[in-house]
Amino acid sequence: MGKFNRIGILTGGGDCPGLNSVIRAITKSAINKYDMEVVGFLDGFHGLVEGNYIHLDLKTISGIGYRGGTILGSSNRDDPFNYPSSKDGKEVMIDVSDRAISNLQDLGLDGLIVIGGDGSLHIADQLYEKGVAVVGVPKTIDNDLSATDVTFGFNTAVDTASEALDRLHTTAESHHRVMILEVMGRYAGWIALHAGISGGAHVILIPEIPYKIESIINQVKRRQWHDKKYSIIVVAEGAVALGGEMVVQKLVPQSHDPIRLGGIGNQLALQIEKLVKTETRVTVLGHLQRGGSPIPYDRVLSLRYGVAATEAMVAGQYGTMVSLQGPRIVTVPIKEAIKILKKVDPGSDMVAAARAVGISFGDEDQ
Ligand code: F6P
Repeated sequence: MGKFNRIGILTGGGDCPGLNSVIRAITKSAINKYDMEVVGFLDGFHGLVEGNYIHLDLKTISGIGYRGGTILGSSNRDDPFNYPSSKDGKEVMIDVSDRAISNLQDLGLDGLIVIGGDGSLHIADQLYEKGVAVVGVPKTIDNDLSATDVTFGFNTAVDTASEALDRLHTTAESHHRVMILEVMGRYAGWIALHAGISGGAHVILIPEIPYKIESIINQVKRRQWHDKKYSIIVVAEGAVALGGEMVVQKLVPQSHDPIRLGGIGNQLALQIEKLVKTETRVTVLGHLQRGGSPIPYDRVLSLRYGVAATEAMVAGQYGTMVSLQGPRIVTVPIKEAIKILKKVDPGSDMVAAARAVGISFGDEDQ
């Protein structure tokens, strides 16, 4: 065997379906193909800083491929470069990255695979800049990482949201109601767009296309004139009214991105009910989109990403992230992947196709 004897893995940021499948694929390929030892840090970067870890062997990872969550635990608030500590009885944020790096060295780890979204990959890149052999794996239900066609977990979230829309259809129709489904996605509308199209929504509201309430009302009324007495609206948590602002639910100060969005669905419901005099109900899908088993697409993608991450590590491609580009898994610099958020292009053929079948994005002129 070459240079690699031991590698570490961690899962950072919000969890998502497919994490266990990636852990399994990295561990199996590292052990079976390269006879390495694999260590898993617990609760994301928290475990790296505090030296909390477990040994991952073939027994530990047996049967986890189809299970949701992460056997390692995750955290979206333990940035080693901005880590909570106490000074004179007060909480202060300090840089403990050297402690994290010496933990890696003490464990004799030759490299670290970070499975995470933009926040975790940003930290991974900073560790790389400090000399750590890092490889990233793109995780997030939001699908907002550029330089990859798709992140694992996204398609499972879409599947969950789409099924929710199917279910809302039948009850909306029975009661002649407007049903609003609020989905996640942060500053990108990917989940809303895909789920809205596949779930037959009549209005899709995404951050990339600011909406006008009049336009939504018109769509609902237009349907009513055509004897369609119910309407389904899917709204991304980051959707904004033209000239308005995103609705923030809470702040998590220790998090890489402290803003937690949420609440737009309820705001819209109040406005719609008032303006069209039709009962309007809201379902906030929330973390149901992150829980549960990955669908087969994500199991396959996670496996490919995991094996590719082991290979990238062995090939010395540090500071890179594995990425799906067309039919192939390639590696790209982490810096490129986190430089800009991947957002829905309002001029894309997918948006045009949705419009062509009568779906409103809430931006049409009256
Ligand atoms: O980034 C994944 C995500 O699920 C977003 O879609 C959502 O805005 C956020 O995380 C929720 O984070 P938390 O788990 O802190 O509520």
